[in-house]
Amino acid sequence: MTLLVFGATGQVATELRALAPVAALGRDAADLTDPTACAAAIEAHRPRAVINAAAYTAVDRAESEEDLATTINGHAPGAMARACADLGIPFVHI
Ligand SMILES: NC(=O)c1ccc[n+]([C@@H]2O[C@H](COP(=O)([O-])OP(=O)(O)OC[C@H]3O[C@@H](n4cnc5c(N)ncnc54)[C@H](OP(=O)(O)O)[C@@H]3O)[C@@H](O)[C@H]2O)c1
Repeated sequence: MTLLVFGATGQVATELRALAPVAALGRDAADLTDPTACAAAIEAHRPRAVINAAAYTAVDRAESEEDLATTINGHAPGAMARACADLGIPFVHI
């Protein structure tokens, strides 16, 4: 397996899956409210590269759910980036 994508069900991930053979993780396999689990998923899959296409996209609720939005859009991608850096592989955060 070479390319690992977070956000299996989203618009961006759906397009990526149509373009190339990727391993896509849905919320059931990697919940971005748990950044440590996201990093662990990268370490377990040992991909050649990671794309994060998962995001908190309910922008109208982002101010009332600021902590949740910050965890999903900030802390989780940060943990993914650190895991990729540790493995020496590229990380693309959309
Ligand atoms: N679509 C575009 O044209 C476009 C253009 C430029 C940039 N972007 C950016 O690309 C990213 C993805 O956009 P999109 O349009 O694909 O969004 P989307 O269709 O709303 O998909 C969001 C994805 O994130 C997942 N997700 C949300 N919370 C999660 C959580 N706690 N744990 C795991 N997965 C979670 C959703 O899973 P569930 O199905 O389980 O909720 C879904 O798969 C965003 O950052 C967006 O700003 C998109």
